[in-house]
Amino acid sequence: MRPVENIVVLTGAGISAESGLATFRGPGGLWEGHRVEDVCTPEALHRDPALVHRFYDARRAALDTVAPNAAHRALGRLDAAWPGELLIVTQNVDDLHERAGATRLLHIHGELRSALCAACSKRRAHTGDLPPGSVCAACGAPALRPDIVFFGEMPYQMERIEAALADADLFVSIGTSGAVYPAAGFVQTARHGRADTLELNLEPSAGSYFFAQTRIGAASALVPAWVNSLLA
Ligand code: APR
Repeated sequence: MRPVENIVVLTGAGISAESGLATFRGPGGLWEGHRVEDVCTPEALHRDPALVHRFYDARRAALDTVAPNAAHRALGRLDAAWPGELLIVTQNVDDLHERAGATRLLHIHGELRSALCAACSKRRAHTGDLPPGSVCAACGAPALRPDIVFFGEMPYQMERIEAALADADLFVSIGTSGAVYPAAGFVQTARHGRADTLELNLEPSAGSYFFAQTRIGAASALVPAWVNSLLA
């Protein structure tokens, strides 16, 4: 590995699997019997707001029953100790990275513990259920929705991510299938810069071909080992 100063880490559902949060495309995928189109698209929200709000209320409530695992904690240690640039880009909408101490973190697909106003676009921390028609404290419209980036909507902070990738010496992808863009394309952006690329995953992802190195195994084993080697 070349000397490393600036790191971008991408995480997906696989990093939270060992905390007990189901992944999306594994056996018995997360969607709890729902097709993605039924709960994670703007059309679904318009067609059946109660179903979509209930689906995310259930996932938000589940956060109280899970805890960060060794992989989240290792990234928290890296965040606290790393002297160079670090950006953890998570596709996950859980708060396990935060609870493990990560601060240099962004949620590209939104967050369960946040509500978005469909009228004024204000995002605000939210715990507990979020019934359809909940009133926005900023603009007063009964227009709060789950702060989740649905398929077909624009992911958050793409410019900041692209800038970090262009300046990265190392790009590490953890626990993601490489099935959903734009996140699945980050490895290629990183390679167009000067970044070395490493994938840590339970199985080769759809994008494994683009990584200089792929390590196969559970995040709770691979991520602490990788962080320890970096901080040594
Ligand atoms: N350790 C490491 N990797 C794991 C583990 C584990 N314990 N368990 C599962 N994985 C891997 C799987 O092999 C798979 O490659 O994590 C990946 C999970 O892939 P997905 O379920 O597709 O989740 P993700 O890649 O995060 O999905 C991306 O798709 O549905 C949308 O918006 C949603 O953010 C999500 C996006």
